[in-house]
Amino acid sequence: MTHIVIAGAGVIGLSIAHQLLLSSTRTDRLTLIARNFPQDDLTSDYTSPWAGAHFRPFPHRPESYESDARESRYTRVSYEFFKRLCVEHPESTIKFLKGMDWLEAPSREYEELGPGYNATSLDSFKRCKELPAGVKFGCEYLTYCLNAPEYLKFLQNAIADLCKKQNVQLEFLRITLPSLKYVKKIYPDCSLLFNATGLGLQYEGGYDDACYKVRGQTLLLNISGPTPYAFKTVTHQSRNGDWTFVIRRSDNHYILGGTKQEGDDYPLPRESDTQRLLKSARKIFPDLDTSQVIHVNVGFRPLRRGGSRVESSSYPGMQVVHAYGLGGMGFEASVGVAKHALSLSRPAKL
Ligand SMILES: Cc1cc2nc3c(=O)[nH]c(=O)nc-3n(C[C@H](O)[C@H](O)[C@H](O)COP(=O)(O)OP(=O)(O)OC[C@H]3O[C@@H](n4cnc5c(N)ncnc54)[C@H](O)[C@@H]3O)c2cc1C
Ligand SMILES: *[C@@H]1O[C@H](CO)[C@@H](O)[C@H](O)[C@H]1NC(C)=O
Ligand SMILES: *[C@@H]1O[C@H](CO)[C@@H](O)[C@H](O)[C@H]1NC(C)=O
Ligand SMILES: *[C@@H]1O[C@H](CO)[C@@H](O)[C@H](O)[C@H]1NC(C)=O
Repeated sequence: MTHIVIAGAGVIGLSIAHQLLLSSTRTDRLTLIARNFPQDDLTSDYTSPWAGAHFRPFPHRPESYESDARESRYTRVSYEFFKRLCVEHPESTIKFLKGMDWLEAPSREYEELGPGYNATSLDSFKRCKELPAGVKFGCEYLTYCLNAPEYLKFLQNAIADLCKKQNVQLEFLRITLPSLKYVKKIYPDCSLLFNATGLGLQYEGGYDDACYKVRGQTLLLNISGPTPYAFKTVTHQSRNGDWTFVIRRSDNHYILGGTKQEGDDYPLPRESDTQRLLKSARKIFPDLDTSQVIHVNVGFRPLRRGGSRVESSSYPGMQVVHAYGLGGMGFEASVGVAKHALSLSRPAKL
């Protein structure tokens, strides 16, 4: 009898469960342990429901080339999977549309259309001929948007359906784990544990020291009439580093984002951020209707110095596969991370 346990029910933990059930790996029992699940009220220590979310590739940066290359590969695996998923399961909310990047001060890697950001690995990639005032660099390519809270619920339902079909005993256990070691106490039969706790819960307790949070405040807009943002998602970076982007969530709902504030742990909406976003939007996206802000969102991206961690380690009586620290790209990377994490678990007795 095999019993696989996944700690964490954000997009990473759920994707590991989903991909596990779609793979040839068989298990008798599957348990997801988490403090937060998709149907819960939003809280600032559960990042996934706050995401935009869209796919926004960027060129590998010289200072983090290796992890950028690895994470870029994860995103392409997700991209290909989502192309099929959006057709087979429209309720996943994934919608392919045009992505545009407008940069006022592009790095050399953008200018050179370097690795990770060119037609080799992006569909319909081209430089934009017409650019708005102040923008020095623009590219467009085929991307997708999804409705993060709805996509998480879709994954959880898909996991339940697959377990039923495959006769896998499934449990969702809501507890806050003091350490990963504790899993073995609750489930002595667990031989394989996936650690997908966002900031990386440690074996002996505490979180990974290399992890830190980057605050993101966004505005949820209600747009009832026709809007060009139903067909494109645009990301703008100003000379001073501020980001402004629009992401379709559903026919009526759009995310206007967003801040990227390192070391800022203020969990409530900040009026000055809201005003900055609205002011930028009026200038950069004059055709965006910002008259109905129905919610101000604050989430924390789980970053990790040195890049995400997708690795296997052995502990007494069980193998632990880590998959955390995905920062601002958890949805984009999710399927690739899940497949990599599952491949690391193969040597175990499955
Ligand atoms: C404003 C904003 C915009 C974003 N936009 C995008 C985007 O456009 N595209 C994109 O791909 N990504 C985007 N992201 C990033 C994305 O949201 C994250 O990368 C992703 O949600 C991380 O998922 P996760 O599963 O690792 O963590 P989480 O979603 O935080 O999940 C962690 C899980 O672990 C559980 N957990 C943690 N500690 C414990 C414990 N001790 N005991 C029990 N359970 C525990 C939690 O309850 C939860 O279930 C955005 C993020 C923000 C904030
Ligand atoms: C384009 O991207 C691919 C894939 O990331 C990379 O291998 C290639 O070197 C890039 N091209 C240039 C000119 O940098
Ligand atoms: C679980 O992941 C965290 C980061 O999410 C990591 O720091 C920790 O070492 C992992 N736990 C174990 C048992 O390895
Ligand atoms: C969005 O706007 C429409 C039309 O103005 C309105 O009927 C609807 O109630 C609004 N939805 C939300 C969630 O505010």
